[in-house]
Amino acid sequence: MKAIILLLLAAVPLGATANQVDPNAAITAFEKKFGVSEGKRRNHTKGLCFAATFTATPEAAQYTVSPIFSGEPISVVGRFSHPGGNLHSEDAKTKVLGMALDFRYNDIHHKMAMLNVPFFSVPTPEAFVEQLTVTPAERGAFKAKYPSVGQFEQSLMEREAGARDYFQQYYNSIHTFYLVNKAKERQPARWIFYSQNMTGLASDSSLDFAQQAAQKLASGPMAMDMIVAFPHESDKLNDPTYQWVTSGERVNFGRLQITGTRRRV
Ligand code: HEM
Repeated sequence: MKAIILLLLAAVPLGATANQVDPNAAITAFEKKFGVSEGKRRNHTKGLCFAATFTATPEAAQYTVSPIFSGEPISVVGRFSHPGGNLHSEDAKTKVLGMALDFRYNDIHHKMAMLNVPFFSVPTPEAFVEQLTVTPAERGAFKAKYPSVGQFEQSLMEREAGARDYFQQYYNSIHTFYLVNKAKERQPARWIFYSQNMTGLASDSSLDFAQQAAQKLASGPMAMDMIVAFPHESDKLNDPTYQWVTSGERVNFGRLQITGTRRRV
């Protein structure tokens, strides 16, 4: 668990704020807001694990030397999740969902965390923790300090009520990461996993998300393509509240085939 927290906190914008959040203070803020579900994550507490395979396209290897993009099928353990510390978060009322991937290559675990939102609500981990502790009376001042919070709420309001299921989503890296190629050149990039084969598979709203996932996977694997975007010169690299314009260039880095669900963790 510690490793994932460190990974998330390390993957912040490159500004001066990267090491200003004390992980213990962040966890205490989650515990105060949501209480504690013993043995569970303090955030994204409700979730469903899945097994998958990722196979990179030949194009990916032109941008990165990472072995997970070699083109060889890579085994992945993934997890869909609901944000917040509520273990009993209601599926039908959830608008935001997460997808985490753990690529397993020899002894390497390469982890990615994504959300089905176009941009993050706040610019820094510090602001994220502040958001957890803000009282209703302080909310107005908090939103004035971080205009992205209002924009984020607006973008959620414009969504249809509730997410339909774990598969009918896109999952966005939100942050900028660097790809390193054979010549050791660093290229900033962001990515989104898009569902590919949802056509004809309607969600049965009488089932919860875990049951729907099992029902859909009974008819075969669910495919999601990893589409990588590169920034336009005007795009900000170190602000997750800023949605990239991008130069329009997109490269398909590979396909994730989800084959089965595991258990709620
Ligand atoms: C763009 C920013 C972020 C994204 C995309 C993101 C996404 C996610 C996802 C998908 C998970 C679930 C992981 C799983 O299923 O195993 C997660 C867990 C978590 N996130 Fe974030 N997150 C972000 C920022 C943050 C920040 C800023 C904090 C705190 C300051 C934070 C704290 C946590 C914690 C404590 C967990 C639980 C980790 C564990 O115990 O396994 N996240 N996040």
